Amino acid sequence: MVKKLNTIALLLLVLTFFACKQEAVSDQVVKEKHRPQYHFTPDSMWMNDPNGMFYYEGTYHLFYQYFPGSIVWGPMHWGHAVSKDLVTWEHKEIALYPDSLGYIFSGSAVVDVNNTSGLAKNGETPIVAIFTHHNMAKEKEGAIDFQYQSIAYSLDGGETFTKYAGNPVIKNPGIRDFRDPKVFWHESSKKWVMIFAAQNKVMLYNSPNLTEWALISEFGSNIGAHGGVWECPDLFEIKVEGTDTKKWVMLVSINPGAPNGGSGTQYFVGDFDGTSFVMDEDFTNQINQDSSIWIDYGRDNYAGVTWSNVPETDGRRLFMGWMGNWDYAQQVPTKRWRSAMTLARSLHLEKIGADYLLVSKPVDELSKYQTQKGNISSVKLDKPVTVFENLQNAYVELSGSTKAEVEFKFTNELNDEVILTLSKENMTLTRKEGLGIEKFSDKFAGTQVAPRKSKSEAFDLKIYIDQSSIEIFADGGKTVMTSLYFFDKSISKLTVSGSGGQIDKGTWGVMR
Ligand code: FRU
Repeated sequence: MVKKLNTIALLLLVLTFFACKQEAVSDQVVKEKHRPQYHFTPDSMWMNDPNGMFYYEGTYHLFYQYFPGSIVWGPMHWGHAVSKDLVTWEHKEIALYPDSLGYIFSGSAVVDVNNTSGLAKNGETPIVAIFTHHNMAKEKEGAIDFQYQSIAYSLDGGETFTKYAGNPVIKNPGIRDFRDPKVFWHESSKKWVMIFAAQNKVMLYNSPNLTEWALISEFGSNIGAHGGVWECPDLFEIKVEGTDTKKWVMLVSINPGAPNGGSGTQYFVGDFDGTSFVMDEDFTNQINQDSSIWIDYGRDNYAGVTWSNVPETDGRRLFMGWMGNWDYAQQVPTKRWRSAMTLARSLHLEKIGADYLLVSKPVDELSKYQTQKGNISSVKLDKPVTVFENLQNAYVELSGSTKAEVEFKFTNELNDEVILTLSKENMTLTRKEGLGIEKFSDKFAGTQVAPRKSKSEAFDLKIYIDQSSIEIFADGGKTVMTSLYFFDKSISKLTVSGSGGQIDKGTWGVMR
């Protein structure tokens, strides 16, 4: 009997130990310095691009470039997480591991509703992931055909994946950078279409069944920004706001060559007939003037693409990017993990005069995590106005007007600052190295500039601050900046000034 009691006591002790240990680990993760509180991060180790996002039966799936062996980039896997609301994410097992064909680079996933692939034998709905195999051994041998497109399928709603036996499904024709397939179903041609990046352009293929692919067209070798390699394209149809007209938007990430240095995502507006993407005439004029047009002028929104299979009843084009920049992503001062994703956003196409504008808005689901703490009504900015203080992980919404320039100073207890300015023409964001944070990159500090499309004295702002990031949606999402910052204490105070300017109204609070 005593022996039995002893065994039970020992068992309880062991269980308590593990329970405490579990708690200690998650506690440590939550409180870790710089750890975002409402952005997606891997629990530990290295993450880059979002991959394979799709919606299926009430769940949003997010996969991501992941190296479980280190906090710097390495042999790529696909990590996996799921969410019901695009804000709270549950971590899942790694979905795809490197294999004899190579590392698992970026790509997409689709729900093969009609089993066109024939991969389901018992009435299941296949989820097909399309990705690039990057063959490191071949690259090291000096070959150039070391990237090719492959697929994997899931017959259990995206829980587990099996690599297709006939991989690769698209062989490399001798192009060094040949990667990041995004696939969608094109209804009028009744075909799957794949777009991927091929060095300085995108290539488009189509297929009846996701396994047999034929080249249909190419786009971009002389158009848009070319300061670096093209990566992670996307192509989707979207309504022009307030009209019945539909246009096609192509996203193309590029690194380096972004407007504020390093990595960034440009876009093109046009038409797609199932074979070729042709730029819209008005957009051609725009790009002839500006040479490149960007979804986000901040330095930390890269490789973003949109969710597949979002139901038509929802109708949103949902987007998420990697909150990082290859200029310094592998040096940022986090310890247990590296990188976060941007907030999920919905994309909208607006036409302002003759110009198209791709607008990003934070998803409405975020509002249920917001607790309001204060508000402000009409105040002149001749003297600095403190909007809030002692508030971490804040959101703030402000509308008002700028004369010459309004300055928004975001500070912490140590007086580290991130400064946003708004004039009629431009929005700028200046970040510095945090006091007490060891300098980690020469490329981090500096001023980022975005043109303001509205060119108006009136402004409105929606801003989300987390432990190491700030996301600014100005003028209803027409001008967007996403930026990291690394301070010993996170931002907790906002002061606004700018003679001649004023705040008309504002509200703020905390996230979560
Ligand atoms: C973009 C990218 C992709 C590639 C992946 C590798 O950040 O370079 O082109 O597939 O990262 O991790």
